[in-house]
Amino acid sequence: MTAEAARATDRPVILSLAGLSKTFGDTSAVKQVSLDIPEGEFLTIVGPSGSGKSTLVRLLAGLETPTSGTLKLRGKDITALPANRRPTALVFQSLALFDHRTVGQNIEFAMKMKGVPADKRKARAHELLALVRLSDSYYERPVTHCSGGERQRVALARAFASDPEILFFDEPLSAIDYRLRKTLEVELKELHQRTGRTFVYITHSLEEAMIMSDRIAILKDGDLIQIGTPAEIYRQPRDRFVASFMGEVNILRVEDGTFPDIGRPAPADAAGAYAIVRPEDLLPGSRDVTAEYAVTQRLMLGSRTQLHLASPSGASFVSEIAGAAEVFQVGTSHAFGFDTDRIAWVDR
Ligand SMILES: Nc1ncnc2c1ncn2[C@@H]1O[C@H](COP(=O)(O)OP(=O)(O)OP(=O)(O)O)[C@@H](O)[C@H]1O
Ligand SMILES: [Mg+2]
Repeated sequence: MTAEAARATDRPVILSLAGLSKTFGDTSAVKQVSLDIPEGEFLTIVGPSGSGKSTLVRLLAGLETPTSGTLKLRGKDITALPANRRPTALVFQSLALFDHRTVGQNIEFAMKMKGVPADKRKARAHELLALVRLSDSYYERPVTHCSGGERQRVALARAFASDPEILFFDEPLSAIDYRLRKTLEVELKELHQRTGRTFVYITHSLEEAMIMSDRIAILKDGDLIQIGTPAEIYRQPRDRFVASFMGEVNILRVEDGTFPDIGRPAPADAAGAYAIVRPEDLLPGSRDVTAEYAVTQRLMLGSRTQLHLASPSGASFVSEIAGAAEVFQVGTSHAFGFDTDRIAWVDR
């Protein structure tokens, strides 16, 4: 375990999942998931569509009852505790704001249901507006007069209204355009840091997962297949599925001591059947494993250039290098290589 992961587990466990499963008819949506979530962690759950992310979070929030397994909050069994009695809140993509009401009424809704007096509710709503960086003037504004980003902040303020210890997010930013999403990602991360609360966050965006999380959990067909810091998941994927799920990657098969795709010998100590070479590790020039590649595409990414390469046997590769990389024009051929201490090995 890395120092980073060890630090995350130093904190006391707030939520503990043991063998948590959920079946719908003959669909096993979540299979035997066991996991400890430390207090204050930003945990992100990623996985393909249908892998069980929403079901898992709904189980944690108490909106679904598990078929088997237990859930503990600070050591206390809460498996059967209904959602409204858990110190948690869920924010999802559709936000579910009341359109015909004001921002203030939306934020105060749960407090009103609980019978909190009007002046207390209002004072709390103003605190929450400040928390999500909306000015006091928003209090009276109808939700329909808010922009997408403002609505998102109102939903966040509403989620914080009950002062939850754990916040669950089910793809809250997926319907928002790229620029605003980037702003909200940073705001959400700051909100996490400022409040010190535990966040469990679902996203389809790997970049979002990498930027925001302390740890990333990967679900596949209802199974939790890997959990680790973003760096661990990126650098030491457990298999080809995780490697290719977490961004661009070159996967080189090893056969009879060689890499057939590039016609080069594999290192004698090759630690698996596949070498995982990230684009930023396949670089021009001579390295531990070098071959000649033809440039088939050159994409400017701003500060970097992405090169699509083909080996003499016709296999495709991706390299990413700093700057404009003018010499690597489409149709030219160059030596590219990778150093074996920069790559990961997997068996499957
Ligand atoms: N209420 C339900 N009844 C029957 N099947 C369900 C129900 N909810 C989810 N499922 C099934 O469970 C599996 C997991 O669904 P889930 O919504 O958790 O996936 P997801 O990872 O959140 O997917 P997405 O990324 O598309 O939101 C799917 O096969 C889905 O069809
Ligand atoms: Mg979902």
